[in-house]
Amino acid sequence: MSEVLIKSGRIVTAVDDYVADILIRDGQIESIARQISSDTAEVHNAAGLLVMPGGIDVHTHMEFDLGAAQTCDTYETGTRSAAFGGTTTIVDFALQKKGETPKHALDRRLALAEPQACVDFSFHIILTDITPETLTELPDLINNDGISSFKMFMAYPGVLMVSDADIFRSMRKVGTHGGMVTVHAENGEVIQVLIEEALAQGNTSPKFHALTRPRIMEAEATHRAIRLAELAEVPVYMVHLSAKEALDSVVEARDRGIPAFAETCPHYLFLTIEEYDRPGFEAAKYVMTPPLREHECQHALWRGLRFDDLQIVSTDHCPFCFNENPYGIQRSKQLGRDNFEQIPNGAPGVEFRIPLLFEGGVNAGRLTLNRFVQLTSTAPAKMFGLFPRKGTIAVGSDADIVLFDPLKSHILSASTHHSNVDYTLYEGHSVTGKVEKVFLRGALIVDGDRWLGSPGMGQFQKRSASGRVM
Ligand code: URP
Ligand code: ZN
Ligand code: ZN
Repeated sequence: MSEVLIKSGRIVTAVDDYVADILIRDGQIESIARQISSDTAEVHNAAGLLVMPGGIDVHTHMEFDLGAAQTCDTYETGTRSAAFGGTTTIVDFALQKKGETPKHALDRRLALAEPQACVDFSFHIILTDITPETLTELPDLINNDGISSFKMFMAYPGVLMVSDADIFRSMRKVGTHGGMVTVHAENGEVIQVLIEEALAQGNTSPKFHALTRPRIMEAEATHRAIRLAELAEVPVYMVHLSAKEALDSVVEARDRGIPAFAETCPHYLFLTIEEYDRPGFEAAKYVMTPPLREHECQHALWRGLRFDDLQIVSTDHCPFCFNENPYGIQRSKQLGRDNFEQIPNGAPGVEFRIPLLFEGGVNAGRLTLNRFVQLTSTAPAKMFGLFPRKGTIAVGSDADIVLFDPLKSHILSASTHHSNVDYTLYEGHSVTGKVEKVFLRGALIVDGDRWLGSPGMGQFQKRSASGRVM
C-alpha cells in the first residue's frame, strides 16, 4: 500500500477553490480535509501552490506516420514532454490505413504506445476506409474497447479525406451506440483548386499554405459537418477550430440545441497569420492546418473560451523537425522547401499548453482559475468519457495532480523543453506560472526539472460515452 499526503495546497477544480490536505492511497484520492496527518505517507508541502487536476490533452499526434513524414516524438518522448507541461492524460490517434479495419489500427497503436507511455493515454480512431466491415466494428469499439470518439477528415483529398456520404454513414452508426464524431473541417476539394492555382503561378513559399486555406472554407465545412451530425443524431466535436466564421457556425448550432462542440489550440490564441511573413523558410515552422488566422479571429476565440462557445483547449501537438537532422530530411519541414504543399502539416505544443493558457488566460484576466481548469482538464474528461476518474480532484478519482507555482516566471524554449522536436513556436516567450510537481495516479513523475517517471507507467484508458455529459 502506498500513501502520499499533499499538505496545505490551494485546491482548484472547475468549481472549487479552497485550502486543504489530500491523502492519496494506492493511486487514488482517499480523503480531502482541512488537516490530515499520517506517519506513513510521503509528504509534499504545497503551501503557496495551486493544486489542480492533471491536464488532459485530447489532441496529440505521437509517432504519426503520414508516409512521406512522421512526427518526431515517440510515445515515450511525447508523453514525457506532456508530463513536464502538467498533462497526465493524452488522447492520441489510431489511423486506419486503407484496407485495414479500425480494430486492427487500434491494436497496432496500442502495441506501440503501451510499453512507452509515461502518462495515461487513449485514442480516437481516424476512419479513412468506411466499408460495411468498418461500420460493423464501431459498436464493439465503443462498448467494449473503450474508444468512444472517431475522427474524420473533410480535407486532404486522396490522402485522408472521406466523402460526405461516408461521414454520414459513420455518424449514424457512432451516434446510435454512444460515441461522438470529431471532424477536421475544411473544404478539401476547393482548397486543392487554390493550391494548384498558387503553384501554377510559381507561388511556392510557406505563406501560400495560409493563403490557400481561407477561413470561409473552414466555416463552410464546419457548417456542413454540423448539419450532417444533426441529421445523423450524433454529437459532433470540431477539432482545431481557428476561424471566427467557423465558430459562428458552432454557436448558431448550439443556440438551436444541437450537441455541437469545439476545441481551439494555443497557436490560434497566441499567434497570427503575420508569422508567415518571416524571412526565408522560417515560416514553415508555422505550417499547420488550419493555418494561423488574423487578429480578429483571436479575439473571437478568447471570447468563445470565456463564454463556453468553445469547450476545450488542446494542442494538436504534431511535431515535425524543422532541420533535417537528426531524423533525416524525409521527415522534416525541409521536405517542402520548394513547394509549400510538401511541408508536413503540424506544429509542436504539448508541453506549453498549461503555462501558455495560464499566462494568456488567467494572468491576462480573460479566464477565471476555475474556467482554466475546466478548459484544460475537466471538460476534456467529461467530453471524452474519462470523468470522474480523471479531470477533477475528488475522493475516489485518480490522483493525477499538478502542483503549480502561479508566481514563478520562466522562458519557453526548445533548448529546455523535453520534446524531440528542434523548435518551438514560442521561443523566448516569458510566462508566469510554472508546473512544479506532477503526480500520475499518486506517483511523483516530475519534480522541478527532475524526471522521475518511466516508460510504460502510462496506462491505456477505456473511455465511456463521449459527447453526452458536459
Ligand atoms: O496541421 C495539422 N493539424 N496536422 C495534424 C493533423 C491534423 O489535421 O490534425
Ligand atoms: Zn485535423
Ligand atoms: Zn491534429
